[in-house]
Amino acid sequence: MCGIVGYIGKREAYPIIIKGLKRLEYRGYDSAGIALLNGDLKIMKKKGKVSDLEGTISGENLHSTIGIGHTRWATHGEPNDVNAHPHASSDGKLAIIHNGIIENYQSLKTELEIKGHKFKSETDSEVVIHLIEEIKKNNNCSLEEAVRLSLQEVVGAYAICILSSDDDKQLIAARKGSPLVIGVGDGEFFIASDATPIIEYTNNVVYLDDYEIAVIKNGKLTLKSVEDVPKTPFVHTLEMELESIEKGGFEHFMLKEIHEQPKSIRDCLRGRLLPKDNHLFLNGMSQYMNKFLNTDRLIFIACGTSWHAALVAEYLFEDIARVSVEVEYASEFRYRNPVIRETDVVIPISQSGETADTLAAIDLAKSKGATIFGVCNVVGSSIARASHAGAYIHAGPEIGVASTKAFTGQVTVLAMMALILGLKKGTLSESRYRELLFELDTIPEKIQKILEDAEPIKRIAETFQFAKNFLYLGRGYNFPVALEGALKLKEISYIHAEGYPAAEMKHGPIALIDEDMPVVFIATKDATYEKIISNIQEVKARKGKVIAIVTEGDKDIHNMAEYTVEIPKTDDCFIPLLSVIPLQLLSYYVAIYRGCNVDQPRNLAKSVTVE
Ligand code: AGP
Ligand code: GLU
Repeated sequence: MCGIVGYIGKREAYPIIIKGLKRLEYRGYDSAGIALLNGDLKIMKKKGKVSDLEGTISGENLHSTIGIGHTRWATHGEPNDVNAHPHASSDGKLAIIHNGIIENYQSLKTELEIKGHKFKSETDSEVVIHLIEEIKKNNNCSLEEAVRLSLQEVVGAYAICILSSDDDKQLIAARKGSPLVIGVGDGEFFIASDATPIIEYTNNVVYLDDYEIAVIKNGKLTLKSVEDVPKTPFVHTLEMELESIEKGGFEHFMLKEIHEQPKSIRDCLRGRLLPKDNHLFLNGMSQYMNKFLNTDRLIFIACGTSWHAALVAEYLFEDIARVSVEVEYASEFRYRNPVIRETDVVIPISQSGETADTLAAIDLAKSKGATIFGVCNVVGSSIARASHAGAYIHAGPEIGVASTKAFTGQVTVLAMMALILGLKKGTLSESRYRELLFELDTIPEKIQKILEDAEPIKRIAETFQFAKNFLYLGRGYNFPVALEGALKLKEISYIHAEGYPAAEMKHGPIALIDEDMPVVFIATKDATYEKIISNIQEVKARKGKVIAIVTEGDKDIHNMAEYTVEIPKTDDCFIPLLSVIPLQLLSYYVAIYRGCNVDQPRNLAKSVTVE
């Protein structure tokens, strides 16, 4: 879901495209490529950075006034030179770049292979250009008509750009679910995933809408829908500064990624969860289902926020699938000479897929014959490749050092796994399974609702920005969320914070309570609600300041707590996906009030690739 740049006009295309790809580097990617048209179609692409691509093509004849460029964030097929974009048609006359996920690519690919198409890459994107080529040939139609007809067969998200060596005065673009912007210059056009690569050339942009196709031909831009309905391009004049655009208008990547969670969870569920068809399917898990059914325990290994997601998994799998779970800090697991059996299923969780301790723990478990099922975000990462099977969270690049959308993506995958296993083992009834599928499908909208009412959280952050310590307390599914909330606060605001099971407070931490101690209770209406009320009263009795995350409509706690933040109701097993959101926002705004560097907190790295 990364970066697209296209150019057609009177200037040299190459420098504009390469500079544009560099402008999009902030989005995170694993490979890059470019196609230029000068009589023949020249495609140059490479795993790694845009600068690596530049290094391999210096000296080539790069003269062209039309071209397309791409930075890839792999979803299908690991990052390598062949899977990098652009991808060409069989006859080598067409080239495509694509951001997004083609969900039905496998069935389309099979049909095209039967018709004689040979594929070079493992990607879903390459299927689209072969489909266009096939339809163009069979219908003897124009390229734009072939694109339109092809997009009627494609299921999934796409932002695409296509050029053809048959016509060097034409560039075609289309979008559904992935962003695409067209810059309108004087006799020239720029296409990109956002305005960042465009803004230095023109402020006049056309934002493509879903199901729209843009045809730039002979210096003219026309729009039409996939249903062949002509559309009038609306030209916006951008006032934004370059810097602000990179963050999509948000002040920091962390805030952008917090607000991306409805979309990132929707992307995680896409093609896997179809409640109306009573369908929930994870390909990797189904291939190893016998291992999950025949093991008597699951061992989760992770670090930091991913370890908190693993703790949520303990509640999910023991509650829903009745399988015993162990949760291990990877850094401890690898050195403590653990008992590991061949029947064990070991589940590493990692956003980056490069955490050294987690990788080492995998090697140890593998050496003892355990099955490794990885839950990662970065496709083709070391942990993904070290696993026997796995499930990607499809959260897209997470740039902010403090992990937010990766946590909710991990918990979403783990919840899907627990539901699948529970149904298979019969520990979850068909009717309850069906109810939970529908409820899981509502989570993105429920997160959106929380994000739309961030004002109360900002005010709480302003009030407590000078606090020296925070306590975070939760029970049941919310205990791991209490730990995660504490980690978020300390890693970006540098305020000391601790998370505890709420009942544990009486065994020591209650000695810390006084009028200077803000205590965040995650007190949602769930199985432990009555108990946590007592804990709130214990803190109140000692003059602690209570900040409570409550289920919307809960009036009881409103009367007890100094501050409350409401979240929508959901099933206990999905509460972490909602209750973590206010805590992410709280840590963000406290850090802002304290003038901290939110995206690059002191002493921290995004991926801890050393021990
Ligand atoms: C979380 O906000 C931190 N950035 C850190 O704890 C992180 O979760 C940990 O380093 C694990 O990283 P991983 O998920 O990439 O393995
Ligand atoms: N799904 C495509 C691939 O894996 C495109 C990924 C992207 O958006 O960069 O190549």
